[in-house]
Amino acid sequence: MPALHLSQRGANAPASPIRRLAPLADAARERGLVVHSLNIGQPDIATPPGMIEAYRRYDERVLAYSPSDGFRPYREKLAAYYTDVSREGGGAPVGAGDIVVTVGGSEALLFAIAATCDPGDELLVCEPFYTNYAGFAHMLGVSVRAVTTHAKDGFRLDPEAVRHAIGPRTRALCLPTPGNPTGVVLDRGELEALAAICRERGLYFVSDEVYREFVYDGARAPSILSLAEFDEHAIVIDSVSKRYSACGARIGALVTRNKVLREAALRFGQARLSPATVDQYAAMAALDTPPEYFREVVREYRARRDALVAGLRGIGVPCTTPDGAFYLVAPLPVDDADAFCRFLLERFELDGETVMLAPASGFYATPGLGKTEARLAYVLDVPRLEKSVRILGAAFKAYRGASGA
Ligand SMILES: Cc1ncc(COP(=O)(O)O)c(C=O)c1O
Repeated sequence: MPALHLSQRGANAPASPIRRLAPLADAARERGLVVHSLNIGQPDIATPPGMIEAYRRYDERVLAYSPSDGFRPYREKLAAYYTDVSREGGGAPVGAGDIVVTVGGSEALLFAIAATCDPGDELLVCEPFYTNYAGFAHMLGVSVRAVTTHAKDGFRLDPEAVRHAIGPRTRALCLPTPGNPTGVVLDRGELEALAAICRERGLYFVSDEVYREFVYDGARAPSILSLAEFDEHAIVIDSVSKRYSACGARIGALVTRNKVLREAALRFGQARLSPATVDQYAAMAALDTPPEYFREVVREYRARRDALVAGLRGIGVPCTTPDGAFYLVAPLPVDDADAFCRFLLERFELDGETVMLAPASGFYATPGLGKTEARLAYVLDVPRLEKSVRILGAAFKAYRGASGA
């Protein structure tokens, strides 16, 4: 029998650094340990009751496909959400015809990269970046070029560094704002500067706005859809996953006023037939979530952020305070964050508990960077975050003792 061939793409697909240590966490749980998961953006916040109710109410006789770009009533209501000036990132005139409903923000990213970059082209990101940008680029034969941001600058991106990084094959800039993993929120001035570069150099700007509601201390998260004379370049990635703490709904959206690009995304959508039907009904109900829900959730995340930042600083981890989303990248007082994260799961416990973090090296494209950093998601309540910090403080000492440092 001839040998089967696995594609180079399949063989070389990068494992998610967020999920890579999951088997070690499973083994730790099997040993009876409580593992506090700060590695993944899976919030414990309750999904709005109106959304849960919509699932319960669904009672069609046939569970049918939806249109490939999603149900029109859902797209209309979503367009009104983007257009509503009172919403974070709102105020951008968007119509139902500018939206393709996708299977999570993940599929919107896949469609956006596929519609803007050919194999061999380059996607420009800032590092540390949301790792799946590299995962999707890899699937499509697209290279990732990264502009490095640094903890000492609060991970802010210098638009001039972006200009210098653009090469002959660069087709699109892809940035999250509010950011994962750094929590950086791009202000209007930064967005305008980046948009000017995209106009000047003929690049698309894929703005990943899935955390748009989560900004703290009066920071604002303007959408690139609100920039003047940028319609042809602007592609927004959105999702219900984080906004409504509904990661399992798998509903997202690609939003663009560029008609040709939207058509391409729709054709990709036709190939996978349809986003999930019931979840769109639920996502439509979620749009009626009252503003108090977000006020309460934002207040909770801000309290968690403050507890985590203060706690980490108290154990000698000088992290920057993120302005948005619910992550931070922390420099750890260890020689190798990957080894330390394994140590936490394999060899350490404090009163039967331990912590799972995501080592940051997988969030960088440049080899060697992020080796002593980890990403922490503040998706657990304040008491559990404080407990996690105590565990980390004890683990640093034990790790240094064990490694003879
Ligand atoms: C920055 C960013 N973009 C997109 C996504 C994709 O999320 P989903 O596919 O659940 O919508 C995530 C998920 O963590 C994310 O952090």
